[in-house]
Amino acid sequence: MSEVMFKRILLAVLLVLGVSLPSTYAQCSTNFVNGTDYFPSKVTFDGDSDFQVTYYNSYKIVNNTLANETYVLYCTAYSPTNIGVPSNAKYIQVPVVKSIAVTDISAIGFLKAIGMEKNVTYATNPENVTAPCLQQSISNFTGASNQIGVVFTNTPAADGSYVTLSLSDDMSPLQKADRVKLVSLFFDKEDEANTYYNATQTAYSCHAQNAKISLQDKNKKSIAWVAYDGSAYNIIADSYHMNLTQDAGALPLTTKATSYTNLNDFQTAVFNVDFLIDLTYFDPNQLTWSNWLKLFGYVENDDDNTPDFINKKRVYRIGGLQNPSGHEDWFENAEAMPDIVLKDLISIQYPLYVKSYRPTWLLDFAAAEPPTIVNATDCVSGQSPDTCTIGAFNVEDDGGDDGDNNGDDGNDSNGSHGLAIGLGVAGGLLALASISAGAFILRKKYKEKFFELKEEPSVQLTEVNGEIRLTQIKQ
Ligand SMILES: *[C@@H]1O[C@H](CO)[C@@H](O)[C@H](O)[C@H]1NC(C)=O
Ligand SMILES: *[C@@H]1O[C@H](CO)[C@@H](O)[C@H](O)[C@H]1NC(C)=O
Ligand SMILES: *[C@@H]1O[C@H](CO)[C@@H](O)[C@H](O)[C@H]1NC(C)=O
Ligand SMILES: *[C@@H]1O[C@H](CO)[C@@H](O)[C@H](O)[C@H]1NC(C)=O
Ligand SMILES: *[C@@H]1O[C@H](CO)[C@@H](O)[C@H](O)[C@H]1NC(C)=O
Ligand SMILES: *[C@@H]1O[C@H](CO)[C@@H](O)[C@H](O)[C@H]1NC(C)=O
Ligand SMILES: *[C@@H]1O[C@H](CO)[C@@H](O)[C@H](O)[C@H]1NC(C)=O
Ligand SMILES: *[C@@H]1O[C@H](CO)[C@@H](O)[C@H](O)[C@H]1NC(C)=O
Ligand SMILES: *[C@@H]1O[C@H](CO)[C@@H](O)[C@H](O)[C@H]1NC(C)=O
Repeated sequence: MSEVMFKRILLAVLLVLGVSLPSTYAQCSTNFVNGTDYFPSKVTFDGDSDFQVTYYNSYKIVNNTLANETYVLYCTAYSPTNIGVPSNAKYIQVPVVKSIAVTDISAIGFLKAIGMEKNVTYATNPENVTAPCLQQSISNFTGASNQIGVVFTNTPAADGSYVTLSLSDDMSPLQKADRVKLVSLFFDKEDEANTYYNATQTAYSCHAQNAKISLQDKNKKSIAWVAYDGSAYNIIADSYHMNLTQDAGALPLTTKATSYTNLNDFQTAVFNVDFLIDLTYFDPNQLTWSNWLKLFGYVENDDDNTPDFINKKRVYRIGGLQNPSGHEDWFENAEAMPDIVLKDLISIQYPLYVKSYRPTWLLDFAAAEPPTIVNATDCVSGQSPDTCTIGAFNVEDDGGDDGDNNGDDGNDSNGSHGLAIGLGVAGGLLALASISAGAFILRKKYKEKFFELKEEPSVQLTEVNGEIRLTQIKQ
């Protein structure tokens, strides 16, 4: 009996026994029919993406142009031949059903976005993993094996199962986020990736637009991202952090030098910023405010020689969500969720931007704000993009005394923004189409954290001279 006939008989037996039908993809490997498009759902990468994909009926050729790697993802029983790819191309059968390993924790965020994180079995530094569904099951990754179908990494390796994400801070937040499309190709989860990426892009643009229309002629606040790397104090000025800062309506700190071995010079450079966000890696057991002050050479004494960000408690870190051993979720999820990073960055400056929203990752470290701990009982698979409604917010209503001339901070007790906002037609339509799919899942997931993701304001839409006007009637 031929193998094909055996498989057909087996299939018939399975059908008679009422076992669920194998997917289209499974049929590709067991009952291949020439001419069938086995990848009806497709992703496309933007022109400035670091990836390219070309679909054929039973395989897809994927290029990583940064790492110069080619992956041939095929669904047939045997890998295709003579298809004109470089000799070092990697061949991986899809959908990958074996274990997934990650050498970089950030890959988990992208897998979560397409609902695949539960299939991650191995991670380098498993103690860093924060995903509630993985905390108890994840094992230490010590190398490729035949139990492992794919290894997502940031450091290229010759092994045939390693796929390079090529994440770096020299790219924009949305460019990083398109890795969700890359990882989806390995599991035929293109539909999930398209939905997630589109919603993320829409929410990101919405937050950026809100900051832009609210702050156009206003005094912007300045933000410096900093890190001590063991030998120098750095002001981080790469595309990723600059883009985020600008899109959050703030002024990035631009200085001639970005790396300082002399602490005094560093302190002088950052003296006038409104917000300092520290990204220094600390052993969780060593991370205290007094250790931080010591490392950065500050004394908290409320005098004129102490910068405002110390006296007014505006030193932030990214540890708002942690696992029970203190490892920070930021490294796992922020790159896959740029919309929420941006919302955080606007919210620390203007706490009433989204009413009742407490930033997800950005934590007022100087004010000893406690982190939210996520543990295994919080396991809800998948990830949802943010919700965002287009509309200006009241930049005076920022609840803090920031010493600029914004007016009566912190005493606007009725909370009313009372704004009539003129939006372009596109903006108005976006407002109408405000995406809301994600709020529920997120809220359920981190229940103690997300009291309320978004309190929708009551608005009235009117058309004035071809422009849609959004008028907030009451809060
Ligand atoms: C599939 O069909 C194409 C043309 O439609 C043909 O060139 C190719 O050889 C066929 N492949 C197999 C495996 O039969
Ligand atoms: C991917 O790279 C291969 C080999 O370098 C090239 O032949 C192919 O055209 C590229 N694919 C795309 C979609 O650019
Ligand atoms: C990319 O890989 C191909 C195949 O190994 C090689 O011929 C080519 O020189 C590489 N290009 C770069 C820019 O490294
Ligand atoms: C993921 O894991 C689940 C449960 O372990 C398994 O049923 C499923 O087939 C896996 N999915 C893939 C695509 O590997
Ligand atoms: C993961 O943990 C190790 C040691 O526990 C640490 O050195 C490393 O920086 C951590 N990585 C991330 C991304 O948190
Ligand atoms: C993981 O494996 C590496 C290499 O074998 C080892 O150095 C490390 O201590 C292990 N980590 C854990 C948490 O078991
Ligand atoms: C996502 O956006 C692209 C381009 O704008 C569009 O082609 C695609 O259909 C969208 N996908 C979804 C699921 O909305
Ligand atoms: C992102 O940053 C790059 C480099 O810093 C810059 O060229 C680009 O205009 C920025 N984009 C946005 C949207 O701010
Ligand atoms: C997880 O956290 C909840 C409350 O936040 C606690 O009741 C529970 O015991 C914790 N579970 C584990 C496994 O740590």
